[in-house]
Amino acid sequence: MKQSGIVSCFATLALCTAPSLGADVEKMRPAATRLHAPPGSTMEQVLHGERVFHGEVAGGRCSICHGTDAKGTENGNDLTLGLWIWGDGSLAAIRNTVQHNMKVAPGMDGNLMPEDVDAVAAYVWALGHQRR
Ligand code: HEC
Repeated sequence: MKQSGIVSCFATLALCTAPSLGADVEKMRPAATRLHAPPGSTMEQVLHGERVFHGEVAGGRCSICHGTDAKGTENGNDLTLGLWIWGDGSLAAIRNTVQHNMKVAPGMDGNLMPEDVDAVAAYVWALGHQRR
């Protein structure tokens, strides 16, 4: 009986703390409802790209340098403004940047398969085209 009391106490704690921690992280991330997929991509790709960007799949590490909110850190620029240093901001240009130019940070662009590159490029495009 004692044991099950402890277990349920932990279960309650986890239930109480997990949603609030999650909410803090979610607050930092651009709201998915403000994102729309680039022409030729699907919302599923954007959402997969969001997970790559935040290091949840494929070892993506984008948010370390570009920020959880993608508004940049001293190690990577703001990707939410729709202003692009590399290329014209088209999906193809963003994909090309992720594939090639990110080699300035060897080993830091994660372990991306081609479909992960497509997805994270779609996510970055969507970041630059948010509904305001
Ligand atoms: C080690 C730090 C670092 C990591 C990790 C990183 N980036 Fe970058 N990223 C940069 C820097 C630095 C630039 C260049 C900014 C500049 O030229 O002023 C850049 C540029 C870019 C650009 C071009 C922006 C523009 O204005 O044209 C895109 C798109 C981009 N990164 C996406 C990503 C994605 C997607 C990932 C994850 C797969 C990623 N980056 C991971 C540091 C990083």
